[in-house]
Amino acid sequence: MQYKLLASVLALATAPGTNAVLRFSCSELVTERLDPLVFPGLPQSPHVHQIVGGNMFNITMDPNRHNIGEEATCTTCTFSEDFSNYWTAILYFRARNGSLIRVPQRPNLDFDGARGGGMTVYYTASYQNQKVTAFQPGFRMIVGNPMYRTQSEASKYRQMTFTCLQTLSTRTGETTTMPRQPCPEGIMSNVRFPTCWDGKNLDPPDHSSHVAYPSSGTFESGGPCPASHPVKIPQLFYEVIWDTRRFNNRADWPEDGSQPFVWSYGDYTGYGTHGDYVFGWKGDSLQRAMDANCDFYCPQLKTQSIATGNQCRQEKKVPENIDGWLSKLPGDVEITGPQPGSGGGNGGGSPTSSVPPVTQPTVNPGNGNGNCAAKWGQCGGRGFTGATCCQAGSTCRAQNEWYSQCL
Ligand SMILES: *[C@@H]1O[C@H](CO)[C@@H](O)[C@H](O)[C@H]1NC(C)=O
Ligand SMILES: *[C@@H]1O[C@H](CO)[C@@H](O)[C@H](O)[C@H]1NC(C)=O
Repeated sequence: MQYKLLASVLALATAPGTNAVLRFSCSELVTERLDPLVFPGLPQSPHVHQIVGGNMFNITMDPNRHNIGEEATCTTCTFSEDFSNYWTAILYFRARNGSLIRVPQRPNLDFDGARGGGMTVYYTASYQNQKVTAFQPGFRMIVGNPMYRTQSEASKYRQMTFTCLQTLSTRTGETTTMPRQPCPEGIMSNVRFPTCWDGKNLDPPDHSSHVAYPSSGTFESGGPCPASHPVKIPQLFYEVIWDTRRFNNRADWPEDGSQPFVWSYGDYTGYGTHGDYVFGWKGDSLQRAMDANCDFYCPQLKTQSIATGNQCRQEKKVPENIDGWLSKLPGDVEITGPQPGSGGGNGGGSPTSSVPPVTQPTVNPGNGNGNCAAKWGQCGGRGFTGATCCQAGSTCRAQNEWYSQCL
């Protein structure tokens, strides 16, 4: 049967040992310019994301007010107790005339009919039969950084890659940059999160310092977690397939031979690839599945069909056109960094000149002054000319070079 076949392909592709892995489909919930993790409360985040999972996804998702695993009422995922939200950026094709159009997604092997293509989510308990601790309510994390445009920056993250699909089951030849040649069946993004947790913080301000990679070896080889992050967590892994089939004609590609796909955050290289996670499994369902070492099939969990998951969806809260031919990326996102294959031209700038300076958080105590920005408001960033202080009760924090927010 197909599952068995795929499981053995996976085991070969990764490492020897016992692998116990949940693999399931989550259809599209909504695709829009929101990011409640990095820009909570901001009705239009800088770039577009495709979001899957439970219907508690919102402009703000305050973990102190909501336990989404208990409060959500539907999910697009086939494990129906999983109300987590998962999201990534989306991909655009840039035509020779500079116009851009969204690259659709397509369902993965075994998941035909998943609305909008969605994504495939994996939770690997352990390759070596070691105990893993499931994420807790309120746990969130981000892997990758949309500002990165160079190999040396991106090397901070392991296993953030792309697969040039010769067939839908191609699982070899992963690269850390976008493929430079047409990929007959599409391009797959592989987003793997760190597997060690500090055991204390559910969601620190940077959404990532509470997790780390093994101190030696790899998750797959059973490598130990560092003393600072001693708790082994499941390996969370997303596969997203970008259906490039209608864009594979070289005659439509840039004349210099470079690849024409650009991410919604303005990156041709792929080094800025990133994934976001908001935990939302109901009760102890994820821990039960991990303890049972479920391998694809998991009688410990409730399931629903892809068709049922497709019925869970959200209306867009951000009214803007992200499909059809566009003259600029949504949000007027600027394209930065080199274009693979072009020798640094066309995409604007060499790898080193495209690295933005690190902006330190501007800390302002807030003084009750009504001219200061209100909570969730913008308080700084490149080109920003408004007030840089925050009203009492919130603090100005740099989210990136272009945006500081009162949180
Ligand atoms: C999203 O947040 C708004 C404003 O707080 C609220 O009215 C709405 O019900 C929320 N939607 C969901 C799906 O929770
Ligand atoms: C740009 O090129 C694309 C692909 O050939 C075409 O469909 C689109 O209409 C063009 N846009 C403009 C503004 O000319």
